[in-house]
Amino acid sequence: MKKTIIQTARVSLLTAVVISNLSWNSISEEENNPPLLTIKGFTFKDLNNNGKLDIYEDTRLSIEERAADLVNKMTDEEKANFLMGTGMPGFDGLTPVVGAIEGRVPGAAGGTYEIKRLGIPAVIVADGPAGLRIKPIRTNDKNTYYCTAFPVGTALASTWNEALIESVGKAMGSEVKEYGVDVLLAPALNIHRNPLCGRNFEYYSEDPLVSGKIASAMVKGIQSNNVGTSIKHFAANNQETNRLSINEHISERAMREIYLKGFEIAVKESNPWTVMSSYNLINGTYTSARKDLLTDILRNEWGFKGIVMTDWFGGYAGFNSIVAGTSNVTQQLEAGNDLLMPGLPAQKKVIIEDMKSGKLAKEVVDLNVKRILELVLKSPIMSNYKYSDKPNLTKHAQITRQAASEGMVLLKNEKNTLPFTDKQKEVSVFGVTSYAWITGGTGSGSVNNKHTVSLLEGLTAAGYKLDKELIDLYKPYADKEVAAEQERRKEKGVMALPERLPELKINDAFIAKKAANSEIAFVTLGRNSGEFNDRVVDNDFNIAKEEIEMLDRISKAFHEKGKKVVVILNIGGVIETASWKDKVDAILLAWQPGQEGGHSVADVVSGKVNPSGKLTMTFPMKYEDTPSAKNWLGTPIDNPSSVTYEEGVYVGYRYFTTFNIKPSYEFGFGDSYTTFAYSDVKLSSSTFKDKLTVSVTVKNTGKIAGKEVVQLYLSAPSQSIDKPKEELKAFAKTKELKPGESTTLQLMISPKDLASFLENKNAWVAEAGTYKVLVGASSLDIKNTTEFLVEKEITVEKVKKAFELDVPFNELKP
Ligand code: BGC
Repeated sequence: MKKTIIQTARVSLLTAVVISNLSWNSISEEENNPPLLTIKGFTFKDLNNNGKLDIYEDTRLSIEERAADLVNKMTDEEKANFLMGTGMPGFDGLTPVVGAIEGRVPGAAGGTYEIKRLGIPAVIVADGPAGLRIKPIRTNDKNTYYCTAFPVGTALASTWNEALIESVGKAMGSEVKEYGVDVLLAPALNIHRNPLCGRNFEYYSEDPLVSGKIASAMVKGIQSNNVGTSIKHFAANNQETNRLSINEHISERAMREIYLKGFEIAVKESNPWTVMSSYNLINGTYTSARKDLLTDILRNEWGFKGIVMTDWFGGYAGFNSIVAGTSNVTQQLEAGNDLLMPGLPAQKKVIIEDMKSGKLAKEVVDLNVKRILELVLKSPIMSNYKYSDKPNLTKHAQITRQAASEGMVLLKNEKNTLPFTDKQKEVSVFGVTSYAWITGGTGSGSVNNKHTVSLLEGLTAAGYKLDKELIDLYKPYADKEVAAEQERRKEKGVMALPERLPELKINDAFIAKKAANSEIAFVTLGRNSGEFNDRVVDNDFNIAKEEIEMLDRISKAFHEKGKKVVVILNIGGVIETASWKDKVDAILLAWQPGQEGGHSVADVVSGKVNPSGKLTMTFPMKYEDTPSAKNWLGTPIDNPSSVTYEEGVYVGYRYFTTFNIKPSYEFGFGDSYTTFAYSDVKLSSSTFKDKLTVSVTVKNTGKIAGKEVVQLYLSAPSQSIDKPKEELKAFAKTKELKPGESTTLQLMISPKDLASFLENKNAWVAEAGTYKVLVGASSLDIKNTTEFLVEKEITVEKVKKAFELDVPFNELKP
């Protein structure tokens, strides 16, 4: 067939508006082809064959140009509808805008408004972040819609392996696409400010560089499927208690250096399609209504091009105000929060009224609408993507199994207790969690997977000989406890929090018998938490009395017989380890490793996988050592309305190293079945110009192949302001090194890596002086140091003042 050569038409925004009113000539060439329209030298197809010039339908034009054309075709009513989602099914008492429709994909979190008249379909958004969250079973449908439950955020980040995370994202994104969803509400990268945050399992780290790099890799992987992501919750959503109304007092420096940095990296490196603003207020204003955050910083400073959506019901002080519909809708739209989710009739009313009265400017509405249109235009539904509803779950099971095992952190391994390779000898498996394995946390971050492989199943499949009497005792007990827990949560409703399952009582004589017959004991300790509430210290952060007793008795009995005890931690966030770690021979931090968890643990304990995960957060000796412990949850204590981040930038290891507080396990720590030697730390120059490369050689000096995570910390001069003793500025993971094999890694340092944020100068400034480079295996295990000079102070970036304090307060200083 003869090809029609069509001149590429680039129509500026202005031209697009002007030419939509001009007359046109049809120059139809072939019967099969739609007629061509020529206007002022530009040639377009009349795609609808209706003689009308619909610029927005012409895919040769940029999405921006098409969206600009569409905005002009929309009525005010359509615009108001478009600025919010279509409601949330299952939320009684809230009449949805256009009928809380289940949408194309049941169980998804929401969708945008469909404009049939203009051929604009609804975009479907669904949670995230441990995999796609949709309903697995549909009414009158014999097919199932299970998704892969991948490891939780803490587990993924502990791999420190960006390429691996990208492959996880790619798999996750293909489930998004093949189940007909357009945007995954993930990744979540809030900073672990305090170990008790109930959603830390979804988040990556106490360090913004790790958070940002892992999030970028995840975004790249997911979006490689041409579906979108929503990096969340922007920003400083660090506690669940009163999350809809908590006012956080935070300095601009702490915001920029700690709480925003990860988002900055993710936006600049991976171009997420959307950002989700958080629930909380910062210095007196909701994040969803902060122009400095959503426009000055996110868009103008970082160059973000996508849309911002609220978190679900974000900007309301609580459930009562949601029902009453009192919020600051217009301020949110003006701030650059384009889409209000999940969408309420009260919001529409305000928008229409404020548009009419002129309080809400047309330009603001049009800009928000245009950005949402751009999202729709690039989503799979716009091109009518024929999703299969059959993602490759078998392949993804392999990916999650591998990612989970690489995220496991070997906290302790006395006398090479692990790997345990003798499959002839019997293994005693204790702890209710071994039989009732925890896949991931609860709330919007949980995934409806078909089956989770427990430790029992994983070890069995790996060929271990497990003590049958223990299985016969524990298995029915665990099943009963799981059923009771499920019943309890069902009664409490959607916001019910998970509770720790009680341990089975077993007597000393029974344990002694096991110690006599088995070669080794595996004891799993489990913890779960979820959205809507925070964790507590007693019986959660601290291990429960019955757990200590269990460990004591098992350790005593097994050690008396010269046998080893391994603790497996099936947890989502940090727990206390200092008081009991000496009682056992090995500790494997397995995290909540997703649906293949039991297989992933078996891969590590059997030595099939040499553990290479490292902590992305500090495990303190005791909870009270946490820098934010003093102001955690805020005041008044029984029902906090505000919280002051007095610890400033001294979050996590920045605090522990600067203030010389000894942790139980430090940030960056993780053992291996092999050993590594570091050598030849070299700088590309001893004076910093506009960038610097640090190279380091790592050699596997042990007997087993393995990977090492190399961390580069900087210790900056601090003449003008106080600074943490060391800050992570780069990291890299080696490939698998065979025994004796070495590799040389290159780590880059850019000017901004040297800079701290000086509030009095509104600038990121790298002071002149000597910078110490610390290259190590953890934040405390520094292997080599070197230094470079910055001859003259560098003002790396000048910015507009943001986050004006509503209440003055003193920040912690060393
Ligand atoms: C959570 C978000 C989630 C949203 C939609 C909110 O409660 O905070 O993380 O994406 O619900 O389910």
